[in-house]
Amino acid sequence: MNTSQSYLKVAVLVSGNGSNLQVLIDKVQSKQLPIHLVGVISNIKEAYAITRAQKAGIPVTVLSHTDSGKRMTMATFQRHALEQLRAWGAELVVLAGFMRILSAEFIEQSPPMINLHPSLLPHYKGLDTHARVIASGDKWHGCSVHIVTPKLDSGQVLTQSVLEVGIHDTPEQLQKRVQVLEHCLLPWTIALIVQGSLPLDGCTVGATLPLPWRLIAV
Ligand code: GRF
Repeated sequence: MNTSQSYLKVAVLVSGNGSNLQVLIDKVQSKQLPIHLVGVISNIKEAYAITRAQKAGIPVTVLSHTDSGKRMTMATFQRHALEQLRAWGAELVVLAGFMRILSAEFIEQSPPMINLHPSLLPHYKGLDTHARVIASGDKWHGCSVHIVTPKLDSGQVLTQSVLEVGIHDTPEQLQKRVQVLEHCLLPWTIALIVQGSLPLDGCTVGATLPLPWRLIAV
């Protein structure tokens, strides 16, 4: 039988509420996701995600850029974050609501990294995705998990989950509906990575199973 020692060591980077982190915690605790959450890094010291991690007994490192009234430079943040990821032995890094842009050097030196993005990439990279989808009158929206590369929100898309935009949806309503999808998509994607079904090296799975894989809610 597998023990947590041999489970994939996963670190999570957060900046906010941490509802996606909570889903991972819950899945691990209920033994539905065979990973070891080795630690959480937050760049915001007030982030509720920190409380969630602490309640679950997961090590937390806060690398706040407002400590001592001074902004931590991105280079300093990344140096500390990389040291911490190495100390934890992280084998996979998950960006779950992490709101800083990472440098190419950091991404190259980090363990493989995936990001959860609230749009159907390659559409709507960047911020305010829900409002932009509504303004464009799109029929479909959703969320994606992709490999992090130096170009923002542009790495290989691994998985997506899709919903139909309601004619009366506001950006806030759409955000809530997409978050429900995210809470299924992220653990599902990590489970696929653990079982070796998704590549983290940017190669596609094969002609018969082109990426992204889609999780369709019924
Ligand atoms: C999610 O909506 C995700 O798509 C985006 O940031 C949000 C994080 O939410 N990248 P939470 O902190 O996990 O609740």
